[in-house]
Amino acid sequence: MAITTCVFDAYGTLFDVNAAARAAAAEPGREGFAAIWPTLAEDWRAKQLQYSWLRAVAGQYVNFWQVTQDGLDWALEASNLTDPELRARLLALYWELPAYPEVPAMLATLKAAGMKTAILSNGSPEMLNGAVTSAGIGAGLDAVLSVESVGVFKPHASVYALVEKRFGCRADQVLFVSSNGWDAAYAAGFGFTTVWVNRAGLPMDRLPALPQHLLPDLSRIAELAQSA
Ligand code: LAC
Repeated sequence: MAITTCVFDAYGTLFDVNAAARAAAAEPGREGFAAIWPTLAEDWRAKQLQYSWLRAVAGQYVNFWQVTQDGLDWALEASNLTDPELRARLLALYWELPAYPEVPAMLATLKAAGMKTAILSNGSPEMLNGAVTSAGIGAGLDAVLSVESVGVFKPHASVYALVEKRFGCRADQVLFVSSNGWDAAYAAGFGFTTVWVNRAGLPMDRLPALPQHLLPDLSRIAELAQSA
């Protein structure tokens, strides 16, 4: 079945999640942080995701902004950083993460080809709106779908089902694109045609389903969507 709808994960896929720590580290007076920011960024992301999965399994939903703050607090303590001003700055920067450079042209090409486009993300609607607006990519998106409406995080099937509800399409008409290997795996298991964008060159996740396509970045997504 031909692809009609291209759906993107947000954090790590369209938006560079490491950009908040990288940008804060480049600011004057943060020489100490500049030496360790990659560790902080890695811990922050890892804890943010772990907390989302644990809360999904335990049935204890709070929104992704809370999980993002909790993950940051763990990461700051692990790096012996207790500066409240740095915490506030990192959180503020998370609301204006840049999109990867190829994103605007990719979305424009998909729209020109007549595809529907959307984000499907753990992010709260407010966080996603902040990132979409600051990256200037709103015109290239037909919908921004948040897990908030189902009250559970990915990879719960009810999250992936939001796409069919919103667009009235079938799973096999959807190309789902994620840089998170586990997200791509569960989206494939749900029935989407799936691309894992493996920017970091990581091994394939050992999970019950496999993404059908692997790409190093987003530049060939439109081509793939039209031939898949
Ligand atoms: C998201 C996280 C998983 O945007 O990156 O849903």
